[in-house]
Amino acid sequence: MFSWGSGSRSHPGWPARVGPLHVAAGDVALRPVKMRDGADWSDLRIRNQDFLVPWEPTSDGNWAARHHRSSWPALYSVLKAEAKRGAVLPFVIEVDGRYVGQLTIGNVQRGAVRNAWIGYWVDRAQTGRGIATAAVALGVDHAFGPVGLHRLEATVQPANGASRAVLTKVGFRHEGMLERYMDVNGRWRDHDLFALTTEEIAGSAAENLVRSGRAGFR
Ligand code: ACO
Repeated sequence: MFSWGSGSRSHPGWPARVGPLHVAAGDVALRPVKMRDGADWSDLRIRNQDFLVPWEPTSDGNWAARHHRSSWPALYSVLKAEAKRGAVLPFVIEVDGRYVGQLTIGNVQRGAVRNAWIGYWVDRAQTGRGIATAAVALGVDHAFGPVGLHRLEATVQPANGASRAVLTKVGFRHEGMLERYMDVNGRWRDHDLFALTTEEIAGSAAENLVRSGRAGFR
């Protein structure tokens, strides 16, 4: 059963459940972050420090301290407030109901632009089994459907082959290079800009994955 879940009226699309989509790893779904995610979030973020640091924005403070479970309530409160404002859609990526990563749609712009960025990470132990590709496809369909956006952007470092592969599989197009775009791991790093607009998705991104044999509906 494939469902979009429900959205708030003032800012459609959050909170909502999206999916599931079946891939090699199991059933992939998106659900809103919750206050009770602190332990899972902390465990995965601390275990994946070396895996995530090369790709994530530089931030003050020690990684372990920033990702201690006691840091989650404050982060969750900010995410929830931004989500209520309609600026961010923060999702947990679940596989068979287990927290394996996060997907965020951010800087949501309305009016004549209707654009946002999409970003994601997955527990290293779970990678290579189609999870991020399914999650991004679900995120795209949600953004272009219930949320009402027209365009999504993703910025990726040239060396991030796995993330580039995910975006390409979902149909994102390379638009250009953003030089010294983001402070990542202590240095200004060039990023490739990928984008996708509604016109480029015939039907839905999830349906396209299913048609290509990379995923199935439950
Ligand atoms: N070069 C090229 N392709 C690669 C590489 C590489 N070095 N490593 C893996 N791949 C391919 C895999 O073969 C697979 O493609 P395939 O299905 O055609 O074989 C693809 O990358 C990965 O697809 P998934 O299995 O759907 O993705 P996964 O669940 O493994 O998650 C992710 C990918 C999210 C990038 C994960 O590696 C991760 O969390 N990395 C660290 C954080 C990160 O980089 N996040 C993205 C930042 S950029 C952004 O958010 C827009």
